[in-house]
Amino acid sequence: MVQQYAEAFSTPEDELLREINLYTRQHHSEHQMLSGHLQGKLLEMISRMIQPQRILEIGTFTGYSALCLVKGLVQGGQLHTIELREEDAAIAKGFFNRSSFGSRIILHTGNALNVIPNLRETWDLVFLDADKVSYIEYFKLVLPQVRQNGFILADNIFFHGEVLAAEVKGKNAKAISEFNEFIRERNDIDKMIITVRDGLYLVRKL
Ligand SMILES: C[S@@+](CC[C@H](N)C(=O)[O-])C[C@H]1O[C@@H](n2cnc3c(N)ncnc32)[C@H](O)[C@@H]1O
Repeated sequence: MVQQYAEAFSTPEDELLREINLYTRQHHSEHQMLSGHLQGKLLEMISRMIQPQRILEIGTFTGYSALCLVKGLVQGGQLHTIELREEDAAIAKGFFNRSSFGSRIILHTGNALNVIPNLRETWDLVFLDADKVSYIEYFKLVLPQVRQNGFILADNIFFHGEVLAAEVKGKNAKAISEFNEFIRERNDIDKMIITVRDGLYLVRKL
């Protein structure tokens, strides 16, 4: 379908990304959480366009999206990524160690809500992809640390299409729906929705 066509006409995943994708599918019960080929390439392209000094990723999982985003960093740039679950952080670390970009990635294991306030950085790009119920809280926490004209990308904002239902049900779908309303109502940001995969909210700080 459209997704397969788009993947076929996009640059293939590099060897390490293909391996992470395959490993995650074969070994992880929640493998659908991985960004995957097309979204990963979009993240890489966005990062390359912004040429960030500092990237923050909230929700590392097995490291796929971090290894896409890191490719756009300028010389001396760093990507901080936060993962709650030690098992996933260990898998990601193993892959980061094998990447030529590994030394630019700083992996924090813990709850992002506790880690973020201790990171004294100014973010050029934030990728929000952890637990959906905390999206608004993450957004409020990071926005003051984002530079003017910096970007926040929030993943899964269609929540598998559930936010389109007349009555939104389920804790996560409701949380995403509330997040989307919260973003829409704010006048201090520029925003649009990218309809790739499960939807990404792209926000620019004014
Ligand atoms: C959707 S997955 C991330 C996928 C990854 N960014 C990618 O594209 O391949 C979400 C991850 O967020 C982690 N997570 C959930 N709650 C968290 C929290 N409070 N702090 C940090 N990480 C959290 C989960 O353990 C999970 O690995």
